[in-house]
Amino acid sequence: MRPYERLLKCREEIRKRTDFRPQVGIVLGSGLGGYADNMEISCEIPYREIPGFPVSTVQGHDGKFLFGYVKNTPVILMKGRVHYYEGYPMEDVVLPVRLMGLLGADTVILTNAAGGINRTFQAGDLMLITDHISIAVPNPLRGENIDELGTRFPDMSHVYDPELQEAAKEAAARQGISLREGIYVQCSGPSYETPAEIRMLGALGADAVGMSTVCEAIAARHMGMKVCGISCITNMAAGILDQPLDHREVQKSADQAKEKFENLITGLVGK
Ligand code: 6GU
Repeated sequence: MRPYERLLKCREEIRKRTDFRPQVGIVLGSGLGGYADNMEISCEIPYREIPGFPVSTVQGHDGKFLFGYVKNTPVILMKGRVHYYEGYPMEDVVLPVRLMGLLGADTVILTNAAGGINRTFQAGDLMLITDHISIAVPNPLRGENIDELGTRFPDMSHVYDPELQEAAKEAAARQGISLREGIYVQCSGPSYETPAEIRMLGALGADAVGMSTVCEAIAARHMGMKVCGISCITNMAAGILDQPLDHREVQKSADQAKEKFENLITGLVGK
């Protein structure tokens, strides 16, 4: 099946169950899934009930779409996403974001847990993504272009929408949440980087590193969606502090930053 037909089939399946028209899509990163509690939920669809939809293998990532309202804005929330490191082709990794677009979302908020490279950051910080670097993973648009979605060679000058960045900064300021800014680099994972790789990425201009988001942002921009990206710095990257990295620590920090993170998202959607 061509990728576009597969997308249409997924949409058809969802449309059998709900006619909800989201305006904003939100993708929740590792450990940030609790955001659903902030929402007035109209409909839930587990990914596994959508034929053709990629389902995650990672514990704690098993996912579903939630449709509902945040401050009167119709939202589609992805609780759990699939990652490239699980072995899926990029086409599968970006399918959910494309589907949110086809369901009507014109804006997507991408969130993630990330390691801090910028030495002025600390665990628990939130970082507004101002730009990205994609070097260690394939471009999700590689292969035959899906003309129905967008052009062959999409511009990436402003992946992270400047107006949304302003809105995020205002929402943070209004709530007294400190919001860092920086450049996010997507690595393939699943191993964390080495200290040498982190020094290299820092020299290249990256402030934070993770295993998601960039490919989804590219796919969203391809189809003309507006993108906002927010990282939760759950730990410092390898070699920055003299301590080993542990996925449980990542989850724990995400949990601790949860409240300000959720307030920031809600404030942003409100704007
Ligand atoms: Cl240090 N690296 C990557 N690739 N992803 C992360 C991380 C580090 N910390 C949280 N997620």
